[in-house]
Amino acid sequence: MSARVAKPARFLLGLVVALLLCTAIIWALNVRDEPDMDAPGAVASADAGLIERGAYLARAGNCAACHTVRGGVPYAGGRGIDTPFGAVYSSNLTPDVKTGLGSWSSTHFWRAMHNGRSKSGRLLYPAFPYTSYTQVSRADSDALFAFLKSLPPVEQVPPPNELRLAYRSQAALAVWRAVYFSPGVFKADDSRSAEWNRGAYLTTGLGHCAACHTARNALGGPTGVALAGGLIPQQNWYAPSLVSPHEAGVEASGRQDVIDLLKNGISRNASVSGPMSEVVLGSTQYLSAEDLGAMATYLKDLPATSALPWSSGKPDASAASERLAAAGAQARPAAAVPEAFAATGAKLYEQHCAQCHGDSGRGVPNAYPALAGNRAVTMTQTSNLVQIVLNGGYAPATAGNPRPFGMPPFVLVLSDSEIAAVLTHIRTSWGNQADVVSPLDINRIRAQQTR
Ligand code: HEC
Ligand code: HEC
Ligand code: HEC
Repeated sequence: MSARVAKPARFLLGLVVALLLCTAIIWALNVRDEPDMDAPGAVASADAGLIERGAYLARAGNCAACHTVRGGVPYAGGRGIDTPFGAVYSSNLTPDVKTGLGSWSSTHFWRAMHNGRSKSGRLLYPAFPYTSYTQVSRADSDALFAFLKSLPPVEQVPPPNELRLAYRSQAALAVWRAVYFSPGVFKADDSRSAEWNRGAYLTTGLGHCAACHTARNALGGPTGVALAGGLIPQQNWYAPSLVSPHEAGVEASGRQDVIDLLKNGISRNASVSGPMSEVVLGSTQYLSAEDLGAMATYLKDLPATSALPWSSGKPDASAASERLAAAGAQARPAAAVPEAFAATGAKLYEQHCAQCHGDSGRGVPNAYPALAGNRAVTMTQTSNLVQIVLNGGYAPATAGNPRPFGMPPFVLVLSDSEIAAVLTHIRTSWGNQADVVSPLDINRIRAQQTR
């Protein structure tokens, strides 16, 4: 009898102990590597040199891009960052005492960058890419802070975050962080050159390239091989793999082409668009020749892999045949495009595209990108193609390419099936051998952007 009573009691006790243990572990993981907030922070004299270095590092981190609303005061915050869990609004980084960083010490700032914790102790949402910035050195963090403190203070409170209920609590965030975040400054690999290490530091740290170019799982945690390509779901853009020779891996590219692309937004054989255009515009165009060279060295040396997280590395045969079926064809090998569809595509290309991209898709160097042999055209993921034809686009205006040529939007000119036909044409002509694009692929993105 007594044993029967004790059993549930013992079970409950076990449950409580297990829960406490879990909480303790999650708590411990969340305060890992935190600075001693009582220790007097080294009062770095904010001389002009330090501020200037901080300004450069702020470019390298593209802080202004997220911390400025369109037409607003730089760094005053308030821009909404859309995530699959709702919108998070960026903080005011100007030194206003009430609403910005005016009352912060350099250690508070370091803890935000390195540990993702605000001055108040609140855990910060990883829409602030501290999962990358944690790699930044204390010296660079102090320089960034000195620069931000030198800005004119602006009194401005960001709008409250609009996260869905389940994601609002600090406890949920603490669990996420225990699984997906570990603080740690970049550690140099002594077997590599100083240049390689500098490139790795910039790419994985302030450059936060992984924020877009690494795939995320349903919980927003990084998944698969780092930099192997990621969808930016809220924007319907795909940041291609920087390690795959079929996407944007640069192992086989000329070093100068990589530098040109990051510096000017355009190179001999590629030009950036969409979210990558903003990266070049606000960040990489300002990097020194040495730093861009270092990044190129690091990027060219990334181990190549064709594995794509969203397709488990194999070409998705069923998706391809679905696309063919939707395009009005029987399932056939990718190159076999239904005749009528192919004829429509070729005609539309003649009418709307050839004047810039050329009859045989060769483009015009430094003006109109070639479409023949262009990996951006033949990638399995077609979102970017749809985006650019629907909405048009410009490479960013940079010192090296001050008046970029534009691509007109076709959103009001071509129907879903016409865009599908012309995209299929450019993906299967002039030696390009990629899958058919179906009208559904266009409709999905058009519908989302007019919502
Ligand atoms: C991709 C967008 C993005 C970029 C890039 C970005 N931030 Fe933020 N940052 C945010 C968001 C969003 C928040 C608010 C997070 C929250 O409220 O939990 C934030 C919060 C912060 C905070 C915490 C402020 C506070 O009041 O707690 C600091 C400090 C900060 N960012 C500094 C920087 C610096 C320095 C850079 C550049 C090196 C930078 N951020 C780049 C989006 C960004
Ligand atoms: C805000 C998201 C975002 C960030 C951050 C980002 N990228 Fe990109 N990147 C993209 C998208 C989207 C594309 C596809 C559009 C395009 O080709 O320009 C892209 C394309 C590229 C390409 C191929 C360009 C081409 O057309 O050949 C390279 C190379 C690249 N990114 C490198 C980087 C590096 C290096 C970093 C870090 C300094 C970085 N990206 C950071 C979103 C991002
Ligand atoms: C007026 C000239 C012009 C016309 C007409 C034009 N384009 Fe473009 N296209 C451009 C320019 C300039 C870019 C580079 C834009 C950028 O970097 O954001 C571009 C970019 C592209 C890209 C992206 C290439 C890459 O490397 O990322 C594709 C795909 C494309 N165009 C397809 C088309 C198709 C299909 C049509 C016809 C429906 C068309 N273009 C019509 C000028 C044009």
